[in-house]
Amino acid sequence: MTKGYLITFEGLDGSGKSTQALKLKEELSQKGYSVILTREPGGTPLAEEIRRVILTPTTEPLVPMAEILLYAASRAQHVESLIKPALAEGKIVISDRFIDSSIAYQGYGLGWDVKAVQTVNRMAVNGLMPDLTFFIDVSVEKALERVKGRQHKAEADRIESREVLFHRKVREGFIQLAQSEPRFVRIASEERSVEAIHREVMEILKQRLNI
Ligand code: ADP
Ligand code: TYD
Repeated sequence: MTKGYLITFEGLDGSGKSTQALKLKEELSQKGYSVILTREPGGTPLAEEIRRVILTPTTEPLVPMAEILLYAASRAQHVESLIKPALAEGKIVISDRFIDSSIAYQGYGLGWDVKAVQTVNRMAVNGLMPDLTFFIDVSVEKALERVKGRQHKAEADRIESREVLFHRKVREGFIQLAQSEPRFVRIASEERSVEAIHREVMEILKQRLNI
């Protein structure tokens, strides 16, 4: 049986990571690999319930520590009930976001102690780290422009004004992580086609994991 691999995609909302994760899944499946495409928060029925709790706006705001712990709870559920069993069967698991999103968003973005966010999340993944992580990097402006395309204008404007600064900090977090963790590959994606980015992803996969 072939060894399973965990490959994760990270980046800002609108960076194009879901598009790339799907293309990679399709190409590897065509090549005959057994591949699972999943996402965080979510990925299993229970973890998707936690996702709904995190992402549904409520009159009672989610306090930051509850947010950190809910993302970690969703991740723990995802790791134990989906990712680890799939890897044990030799499958390739592609996850649209994983542990680094918590470091970048809750740590760098919200300004919580990065070491504390790391500690909670190391407990959540229980020793499982990705074999390879693609950071699909675009400017905050480009990412927000793409997100705006998916929303009503009033909602998009509100989010944009409130969140430009936040997303700058999140992007800085991903840049720091990409520089310090050897499993990370930063793909400069501004003004590049989906196809060109995908070809680079395939090239790196070949070099790093011989897939
Ligand atoms: P994310 O998962 O990072 O939020 P998506 O993959 O959903 O991003 O992409 C956001 C939007 O940008 C989608 O409408 C998608 O079709 C488009 N998109 C993705 N990659 C590119 C690219 N390289 N060039 C132009 N548009 C892109
Ligand atoms: P996602 O569904 O990937 O959104 P998008 O497709 O727009 O990128 O993620 C939902 C949101 O959750 C996104 O804004 C990033 C955030 N998030 C965190 O803040 N921390 C985390 O640990 C994860 C996994 C996601």
